Amino acid sequence: MQQIHIKGGKELEGTINISGAKNSCVALLPAAILSSDKVTIDNIPEISDVYYLEKIINELGGVITKEEDSFKIDCQNIENVAISEEYSSKLRASYYFMGALLGRFHHVEMYFPGGCNIGLRPINLHLEGFKKLGAKVINKGNKYVIDAERLVGTFINLDFASVGATINILLAAVLAEGETIINNAACEPEIVNVASFLTSMGAKIYGAGTSRIKIKGVTKLHGGFTEVIPDRIEAGTYLIMGALIGKKITINNVIPEHLESLTSKLLESGTKLEIYEDKIVVYKNEVKNPISIRSQVFPGFPTDIGQPMGLYMTQLNGFSNYEETIYENRMQYTKYLNLMGAKMMVNGQKLSIIGPTPLKGAYVTATDLRAGATMVLAGLIADGDTYIDEINHILRGYSGIIEKLSNVGANIEIVEI
Ligand code: EPU
Repeated sequence: MQQIHIKGGKELEGTINISGAKNSCVALLPAAILSSDKVTIDNIPEISDVYYLEKIINELGGVITKEEDSFKIDCQNIENVAISEEYSSKLRASYYFMGALLGRFHHVEMYFPGGCNIGLRPINLHLEGFKKLGAKVINKGNKYVIDAERLVGTFINLDFASVGATINILLAAVLAEGETIINNAACEPEIVNVASFLTSMGAKIYGAGTSRIKIKGVTKLHGGFTEVIPDRIEAGTYLIMGALIGKKITINNVIPEHLESLTSKLLESGTKLEIYEDKIVVYKNEVKNPISIRSQVFPGFPTDIGQPMGLYMTQLNGFSNYEETIYENRMQYTKYLNLMGAKMMVNGQKLSIIGPTPLKGAYVTATDLRAGATMVLAGLIADGDTYIDEINHILRGYSGIIEKLSNVGANIEIVEI
């Protein structure tokens, strides 16, 4: 078994280059199968979610040629076989093969996706969207069989602006007959990235990034190209790290507009930031004003940065508050921070924090991806040694984390036990 071992308390200094966004890339790879010509995707992060998506594309008969972080994907000869549960259960985003295979073949067989245990995470909005486009969904136990004689464009209003449902419906609708409207669509930057990739392949999509997306169906998609946008959650995690323990940390390759809900909270709490066109320089917060945050859909404060931000709040003066509004089960990490010396009180979806509390190293667990990243940051600021279990969660989403942190002076390693 592997663990991350950190010797904490070391001030960090230097530059971190942000990788391509996990949550974009995990939709772009399945989107590639909509074309029977070759497509190219650049800036792919080295994370295990990508590894399993590659496995699924290979299982379907797609061929991927890699050159550094660029993937050329040839899905000319893919066969629409059932996707094995072994791979689909490894990550949430395997569900994007539902929309893509439905779009291209009008038939999909696959199992309920995996992913972090952070709440119930149903996929009813995805399935309702497919049904509205004309598909029949048969669900037996864990398996879904989705079939459509024809896919016909229609008006789809999402009850909640779900990122996954918006992208999945988009994938199914680009090759449908006629016009589809997705109303109350999610506006996250990852959706714009996917829509611009599909557009480069010949799809007709208008309004991606707003709450109303219009898709005019086309009969075929050709080759295309995109670059994965910088990972705003990875960038946010390292910005928070800089605010906690950075002498001077430069976060390179970011789109600062994607991070405004976070940077405004860091500034409000007294962190010094220098924001440039594609990089942000962050210094340790010496002012430590307490803050209140509520997670929201984009452009609100992202749920995915809620856990690292909870840790940050343990180092501010007095009472800070956080409310999680997207997932039911994203507070498991607080018990480990409390073990390290934090004072965090959970009441349902609300979290009250009293700070500042020095942390001491401990044996902790990465209960999910972002909780795992939070344990890494906690280990970096804690006194002594921290050992983190279940690091597979962390490696699912943080490309080169050990190397990136070692380069700014952290004492961090993966150990086999
Ligand atoms: N929801 C439903 N029904 C649906 C779909 C969603 O009730 O059919 C609910 C979910 O249960 C959840 C809320 O709506 O409570 C938000 O779900 P959404 O569909 O927006 O999220 P997702 O597509 O499952 C993606 C990211 C998450 C990120 C959210 C919100 C991927 C693979 N995952 O999930 O990323 O938290 O959007 O921005 O893109 C992470 O990176 O740590 C992570 C969990």
